[in-house]
Amino acid sequence: MGQDLEFLKQRRSIRRFKPEQIAEKELHDLEEMATLAASARNEQAWFFVVIQKPDVLQQLAELSGRDNPFYSAPTLVVAFAKQEAIASVVDTAFAMSNMMNAAVADGLGTCYIYCMKELFNDLRYAELKTVCGVPEGYDCIGSLAVGYPDEERPTPTDRNWDVFSYIR
Ligand SMILES: Cc1cc2nc3c(=O)[nH]c(=O)nc-3n(C[C@H](O)[C@H](O)[C@H](O)COP(=O)(O)O)c2cc1C
Repeated sequence: MGQDLEFLKQRRSIRRFKPEQIAEKELHDLEEMATLAASARNEQAWFFVVIQKPDVLQQLAELSGRDNPFYSAPTLVVAFAKQEAIASVVDTAFAMSNMMNAAVADGLGTCYIYCMKELFNDLRYAELKTVCGVPEGYDCIGSLAVGYPDEERPTPTDRNWDVFSYIR
């Protein structure tokens, strides 16, 4: 197996983070890799909000009603998919996946945090999107907690390998 695949195999969800903020260069790498993701008709039907302000992260955590939903990660990237696009959820998920893999290359850890989808799409909190600068017509599909791992990358949990059929 090539060196690059060995590297990609290291990606695991990280749920313990060091408190220090990620470097600007690393944030730029994540943004660049998200931007370079494949998208249907090259519509790039995504939008991302990078949240690094501790009191805002705290407020979002409280609004979610969950205990430490971001695992104390110093950065949260909230992802939005454009409503009027052919495959925006797929596009945006690909961009997030690119970010997750870029993070491994930079020694960062990530974890997909689903509950932000409920929060940002809740009409009671509609002003959240406005305050965060999200354009009209985008729905949240989740978020990524990002930071320096404060744990070994866990070994993969059980995987199903019998999900391939062959016609050849
Ligand atoms: C769409 C999606 C939603 C997820 N939501 C959460 C979440 O809210 N909280 C969490 O701790 N992990 C979440 N995860 C991470 C999964 O639990 C994790 O990817 C899975 O257990 C496989 O482990 P691995 O990422 O270490 O390979 C989510 C992953 C995906 C793809």
